[in-house]
Amino acid sequence: MNEIKIFSPATVANVACGYDVLGFCLDAVGDEMLIRKVDKKGILITKIEGFELPFKTELNVAGVSALAMYEKLQPDCGFEIEIYKNIKPGSGIGSSAASAVGSVFGMNALLGSPYNKTELTQFAMKGEALASKCEHADNLAPALFGGFTLVKSLSPLEILEIPSPDNLYATIIHPQIEIKTADSRAILPKEVKLQEAIVQWANFGSLIHSLHTNNYQLMKRSLHDAIIEPHRSKLIPFYKEVKQAALNAGALGTNISGSGPSIFSLCKGIEIATMVSDAIKKVYLSTGIKFDIHISKINIEGIKVL
Ligand code: HSE
Repeated sequence: MNEIKIFSPATVANVACGYDVLGFCLDAVGDEMLIRKVDKKGILITKIEGFELPFKTELNVAGVSALAMYEKLQPDCGFEIEIYKNIKPGSGIGSSAASAVGSVFGMNALLGSPYNKTELTQFAMKGEALASKCEHADNLAPALFGGFTLVKSLSPLEILEIPSPDNLYATIIHPQIEIKTADSRAILPKEVKLQEAIVQWANFGSLIHSLHTNNYQLMKRSLHDAIIEPHRSKLIPFYKEVKQAALNAGALGTNISGSGPSIFSLCKGIEIATMVSDAIKKVYLSTGIKFDIHISKINIEGIKVL
């Protein structure tokens, strides 16, 4: 096999109280990538469709993660990468992560899988760092592993797979404005108050417990963010209105997806996810801001070969 086509999914990072450590995988939206093994050594990006991104390997997220793996393994071949981008950069649903994991997942498959998913995440972190100016893995891990993942530590990298209740859906609204992750990180305080931290880790522990025990009521009581949301929500037009409408329509919780501007709601069942979609659509239709809405079951498979 010399060529592989893959689906690299969008993801939601942070998940309210899990800043930089918790994420989940979507199935309704993602990029496609074609990775080709060639005789000529090196990594070449030969096609990019969907959005304007750099072709130069060292300046492209997919290229940088591919190079990290390539330089470590030093295989006796080269690779060409075609990127068919559906996830808008700066949308808050893991656009850079999808590119970063796509190249290494595809190369790894073509080379007979010398690396496991944690090792692939490690390479992909180099690409993600190009986009967000720091290494974090809370989009990369769910894209590679699927479901919910918890990045227990970055050094050494340790990723835990968290179970996802069967009937859990996400409704995502993506207002068509761009928020750069680096900018959205820069506005966060460097220190947090002890009282806020206590609330946050109580909610985080409870959220993880709710996922393990299919306890939707506990999930609803845990999907709060005392630390990040107050700062970042100011960057998202009509955030409060969307959140209120989603909660009124029955969402278990609504919060900022990654570094924004997308807003996710977790919902029990497709019917509620659809009602939430209708309610937030109503809010945004009157704003004049263009937007997309996705309803997605939690994707427990993650990145896959097409
Ligand atoms: N955890 C990262 C952040 C995700 O919120 O900055 C960025 O997509």
